[in-house]
Amino acid sequence: MVKRYESVMENLIDIRGVRHAYKTASGPLPVLDGLDISVPEGGFTAVVGPSGCGKSTLTKLIAGLLFPDDGDVFLQGKKVTSPRATVGMAFQNPVMLEWRTVLKNVMLPLEIVPTQLSRTEQEDRARYLLALVGLEGFEDKRPSELSGGMRQRASLCRALVHQPDVLILDEPFGALDAFTREDLWQIMHQVKEKEPFTGVLITHDLRESIYLADQVVVLSGRPARTQFVLDVKTDNRDIEMLYTPQTADMLSTLRKQIEIAQGRSPAAGDAT
Ligand SMILES: Nc1ncnc2c1ncn2[C@@H]1O[C@H](COP(=O)(O)OP(=O)(O)OP(=O)(O)O)[C@@H](O)[C@H]1O
Ligand SMILES: [Mg+2]
Repeated sequence: MVKRYESVMENLIDIRGVRHAYKTASGPLPVLDGLDISVPEGGFTAVVGPSGCGKSTLTKLIAGLLFPDDGDVFLQGKKVTSPRATVGMAFQNPVMLEWRTVLKNVMLPLEIVPTQLSRTEQEDRARYLLALVGLEGFEDKRPSELSGGMRQRASLCRALVHQPDVLILDEPFGALDAFTREDLWQIMHQVKEKEPFTGVLITHDLRESIYLADQVVVLSGRPARTQFVLDVKTDNRDIEMLYTPQTADMLSTLRKQIEIAQGRSPAAGDAT
């Protein structure tokens, strides 16, 4: 299915000078303090940073579930002021409804977000996505009958079923073993080719960020600001790309940046 936008914009997601503090019993907790992230249409940005620095908070700001105290979040050039149905989300531990089949779990967002699709078209779309991630034949199973990797694939289908413009993945592969994770990475590339989206991936895995994304943003420790941006310059999305000297250089750069973010290494004023 072809997506059309009213006008061609440089960036689909623009986060400018965002600051945010949570109100807590012991006073405000500043979480984000000067966040700038731009993701062009069709781009895939990974966000890495120390635990608790505000990455999940960032996903809520993009989805319109939370609003910044200062600065702006724009989606398709429009300021985000309410929850966005055009954003799909998948998380580390996908919550599936056990009394529904896998197919009906994938179709769930279509019952919540208004859709033009007929009931048959909705089912066809869910079946198509499940086949795309290799879950053909599992449509009528219950979630508990799936492995962790399969559940995560079904959760990806659910996040994509209403053709979101933006797909947010908050550590979706974190709980999987290394081999299953690599399978899922490859599936992500296949899915993105067939079902184009603009992606934001939160991850702790630097290899994952380089393999999947075209831009990796490193956040500083809390309150987080944009500390460093790495452009992943490669067309090679074969898993072998993880073992090239170029990737080793990028990993080393990111690792140093994470050490700075964690306060374990001096910033040295030359983040590059
Ligand atoms: N609703 C809330 N009210 C108050 N504090 C919150 C709330 N949500 C998150 N926090 C705090 O804000 C900080 C950032 O939380 P967030 O979940 O965004 O971090 P994160 O980078 O996603 O962490 P992790 O890497 O562990 O997933 C944490 O200190 C957390 O305790
Ligand atoms: Mg988080």
